[in-house]
Amino acid sequence: MSETLLNRSDDTGGDERVYDPLDPVVKHEPYPFYAKLRRDDPVTWLPSLQAFGVARYEDVDTLLKNGKLYSSSMFWPALLGEYDPVPEVPPMISMDPPGHVHLRKLANKAFVPSKIKILVDRTYEVANELIDDIIAKHGVEGEFDFATDFCALYPVTVIAQVLGVPTARRAEFKVWVDNILAAANRAAYGPERLAEIQDSSDKVRAFFEDLYDERAADPQDDLISQFIVAEIDGEKMSRIEVIQMSILLLIGGVETTTNLLGTTLVELKRHPEVYARVRANPELIPALIEEVLRYNPPVQIIFRHTMEDTELGGVKIPKGSTVMPLLASANRDESKFADPEVFDIDRKIAFPLMSFGQGPHFCLGNYLSRMEARSALETVFQRFELLEPVSDEVEWLDSYFARGPHHLKVRFRARG
Ligand code: HEM
Repeated sequence: MSETLLNRSDDTGGDERVYDPLDPVVKHEPYPFYAKLRRDDPVTWLPSLQAFGVARYEDVDTLLKNGKLYSSSMFWPALLGEYDPVPEVPPMISMDPPGHVHLRKLANKAFVPSKIKILVDRTYEVANELIDDIIAKHGVEGEFDFATDFCALYPVTVIAQVLGVPTARRAEFKVWVDNILAAANRAAYGPERLAEIQDSSDKVRAFFEDLYDERAADPQDDLISQFIVAEIDGEKMSRIEVIQMSILLLIGGVETTTNLLGTTLVELKRHPEVYARVRANPELIPALIEEVLRYNPPVQIIFRHTMEDTELGGVKIPKGSTVMPLLASANRDESKFADPEVFDIDRKIAFPLMSFGQGPHFCLGNYLSRMEARSALETVFQRFELLEPVSDEVEWLDSYFARGPHHLKVRFRARG
């Protein structure tokens, strides 16, 4: 490990900035740093996070598909630390076989394409209701914050419905999820911010404890009720496991799709010719979504933990190390994607994107989020004849893990 450190400081001498995920300059625009890592230092030691960052597609793919060597067990502890709302049991994203396989089988049942299709009409309704609210509040033209007034409320409303959570609580949910995910940056925060994170962690847990007890007494047609009664290989999930699974789905289903929608509008502002084409041809929306997922994905980085001493990309990695596959870097690997730094909705993608991971933990919600994004964008373009960020400057979330605009003030005009 020390050898790697020495090599790195040799490579990055002078006043040139090195890749540090916690550096605000890196968080604002990580892509030039990823490109440099892919070229010069593809498996690199990151002192601020005490972890190895992995930048090239092949290495990311290899490690994600080898769950035995690169365990997921430290994912949640690495991400949330002591702010995990349910520390008693790991969520499935932070489990290895055989426990992971059991839970995944159960959760898959609720997320197969046939189940998601049932939700399509509801997603258009949710999008239309949110736009009605925006028009009621701001009139038929003017300005509003697309990130907070639309993107942040839309996926949380959809996932709340799937889980069986009252829609009225959705704004609180969004705050809880944002705060809990902010725990990834806990090393950089002072006591006040950490107290907010703890408060949200306590509240989300208390909420799902109450909901579990209500549904156990009186099951409804929702996912929590299904989890309570479902059996996996003759065994039921415990109360605490159902609560952890529900919180995982809430966290997984909220911030990610929210950020995908916000970033899509940012990229459309940056590429007006694409915006004009997509508005004239809404059938291009799925291709637009795929390119945003590749080019500027909502989840930049995930976490693994080595179970043995190993070597990756020529670098020795000791047993017990934290390894961070840089998904967003892999998506711009020049050996897999032609002209990777170019935003091109017509590109033919020959290799799977890394945006939803790979291997056994491949995102459970990938189909749902793509469907949600499509319904939302179709509705937004249909209802607003003008929808444009007012500034070229983007205030990105303060996170190296999640990427999306924190605020996105837009100029709008609704169709009459
Ligand atoms: C654009 C939207 C989304 C992105 C970019 C995204 C990204 C990811 C990634 C990268 C992983 C892999 C984690 C790993 O390998 O350790 C993952 C897993 C997961 N995602 Fe998503 N996600 C999105 C939407 C959703 C939605 C809508 C849901 C649920 C409603 C969801 C639920 C999950 C769950 C439960 C896992 C863990 C699966 C497992 O451990 O087997 N995601 N997601």
